[in-house]
Amino acid sequence: MEQLLAKLYQTNHLTHDEIVELLGNLTPEGKKELFRMADETRQRHYGKAVFMRGLVEFSNICKQDCLYCGLRRSNPSADRYRLTDDEILSCIEEGHELGYRSFVLQSGEDFRYTDASLAAIIRRIKSRYPEVAITLSVGERSEACYQAWFEAGADRYLLRHETASRELYETLHPGMSYDNRVQCLTTLKRIGYQVGAGFMVGLPGQTARHLADDLLFLHDLQPEMIGIGPFIPHSATPLAHESGGTVDQSLVMIALARLFIPDAMLPATTAMGTLDPVGREKALRAGANVVMPILSPLAVREKYALYENKICTGDEASHCRHCIEMRIVASGYQIDLGRGDHCSVTGPCPA
Ligand code: 5AD
Repeated sequence: MEQLLAKLYQTNHLTHDEIVELLGNLTPEGKKELFRMADETRQRHYGKAVFMRGLVEFSNICKQDCLYCGLRRSNPSADRYRLTDDEILSCIEEGHELGYRSFVLQSGEDFRYTDASLAAIIRRIKSRYPEVAITLSVGERSEACYQAWFEAGADRYLLRHETASRELYETLHPGMSYDNRVQCLTTLKRIGYQVGAGFMVGLPGQTARHLADDLLFLHDLQPEMIGIGPFIPHSATPLAHESGGTVDQSLVMIALARLFIPDAMLPATTAMGTLDPVGREKALRAGANVVMPILSPLAVREKYALYENKICTGDEASHCRHCIEMRIVASGYQIDLGRGDHCSVTGPCPA
């Protein structure tokens, strides 16, 4: 195990068999060493900075039916909402006043927001606040649509691959195609977006071999951002009675992702904070360097329930900012409210 960790640290790569062996033999001391290596690698690329992104969850309406997700179209108990353009703008305005210069617009796959209408929202934000970075996270669309949004001023796109196992992917996503998912990610990269991929940990049927596939997939794709978090069963989905992922398993995968893709922007996800009151702080110490406080209006926060008991659903945006900032500083890191571009955008990444 020590040799595998040393090899990973030096070369940022392991074979599939080596990853499986490492995952099967990690001792508590081995984990500590892994987290230390990941923290050091993050430090070399981004120092002590933790980048803040204001998250606007603007619609929970979704045409997809992902088995794990509380927003799946077959969940009649989800209380659906859509924010108007003006409501989205006022979330951004509030975030901007709080100092954020990086925003994520996320929603279910809601085609009421058309190629043109979302482009118009992006343009409004960019003309009012040219200095901010806009990240979209709205699912699978056509290449022409991705191109139009990029031209309107979107800088980044989050589209987790969810799992790099075709079989697991197609079981969990009825009617969706693994190839199309991968195609979307490569199209987004080619257009020029900073791209975010990522996966859930603890999915039903997921083994160490699947997780090894995820790391190697990410290593091939070289995304600028990587979202990793535990699967949390939602009671109104077909996976209600499955067991879900743990913070511990997710920390290991976050640290491994940091070592496989050393320059990635890696969020300490809300799902981590939901399972463990200090889950996000633990993620930062295991190599994560981004947090995404929620800016959505209080009235809709609880409705954006990918899973239940999500943290921060009752907090004002300003409270959220101060709460998370305190936690970051107390963990020994520094808040960065800037655009938080990937190192390749601002200059060459460190070797
Ligand atoms: N538990 C954890 N993460 C989830 N996501 C969706 N549903 C769940 C769940 N039940 C994740 C998916 C998606 C991201 C926005 O949230 O990975 O890409």
